[in-house]
Amino acid sequence: MSEEIVVQTRALSKVYRDFWGRQKVRALKALDLEVHRGEVFGLLGPNGSGKTTTIKLILGLLFPTSGEALVFGKGANDVGKNERLGFLPEESYLYRFLNAEETLDFYARLFDMKPEVRQERVDTLIKQVGLDRARKRQLQEYSKGMTRRIGLAQALINNPDLVLLDEPTSGLDPIGTREMKDMILRLKDEGKTVVMCSHLLADVQDVCDRIAILHQGELKELGRVDTLLTVADVTQIRARGLSPDCQNEIRDVISRHQGELMEMANPTTTLEELFLSIVRDSEARPGRRAKVEKPAEASPKT
Ligand SMILES: Nc1ncnc2c1ncn2[C@@H]1O[C@H](COP(=O)(O)OP(=O)(O)OP(=O)(O)O)[C@@H](O)[C@H]1O
Ligand SMILES: [Mg+2]
Repeated sequence: MSEEIVVQTRALSKVYRDFWGRQKVRALKALDLEVHRGEVFGLLGPNGSGKTTTIKLILGLLFPTSGEALVFGKGANDVGKNERLGFLPEESYLYRFLNAEETLDFYARLFDMKPEVRQERVDTLIKQVGLDRARKRQLQEYSKGMTRRIGLAQALINNPDLVLLDEPTSGLDPIGTREMKDMILRLKDEGKTVVMCSHLLADVQDVCDRIAILHQGELKELGRVDTLLTVADVTQIRARGLSPDCQNEIRDVISRHQGELMEMANPTTTLEELFLSIVRDSEARPGRRAKVEKPAEASPKT
């Protein structure tokens, strides 16, 4: 893990107040976090636990009630950091009447990119997020998943060092989800730092190096995903081509050593794997349909 700290929060707290300044919700309570360069960090927690609030405080879109957030060593309200930052909000607020190319071109101009660099960046990103075929369509015609993809492209337009993603996989189908996860891992390979939040546990498990679990604004757990998920006292062995005799022998060895055999079975694939293989197969061989099992014929009543 790199020594360089990209995001740091110190006793970061947020209280939302109502119109009259009365305390309404304590959304975040004294959060201490450090995110290092090059890691994918996940904020996890149920609805309303303070994930979006944390991201907005890091971005400087909200002011903390107390404590502070530092990005690249500077206060979150320092606008200089925005050059190095990308943000995918929970809901994208993009112009409905622009198409994908125009949208990205618009944001590239905000970052003062030269025309030739701009064109190439827009083109690369559109391909990267899988919107090549829809690049000339207005965003108002986009499906939820397509909107998420253009949102990600927009977040990456300035080739940021730190990317904050609020629920990146929400609204995506399993293929889109897999692609989004691959894109996040690609960002990590490029040495970028990613902070994402989600309540979809599988997504977080697949891409994050470390996670923080929030509940009602409080940090409940913090650590490496692999360490947190390791069940220390259980050993898992996967082998191919074992004869029944060999399996019996293994059972004997385990019992001789006072171990407890919990399971010896053929693994099942995940629904995600099954779904992806069916869709890939359908793309390779269009027109083929599943055989529908006919119900067994009812036996005539006697
Ligand atoms: N602008 C606001 N005014 C008042 N309360 C707010 C505001 N924004 C968020 N809250 C409250 O702060 C708490 C944390 O909200 P936050 O949006 O950070 O949660 P979250 O973890 O992102 O949830 P979700 O998974 O639903 O996106 C909630 O109780 C929410 O009602
Ligand atoms: Mg949220």
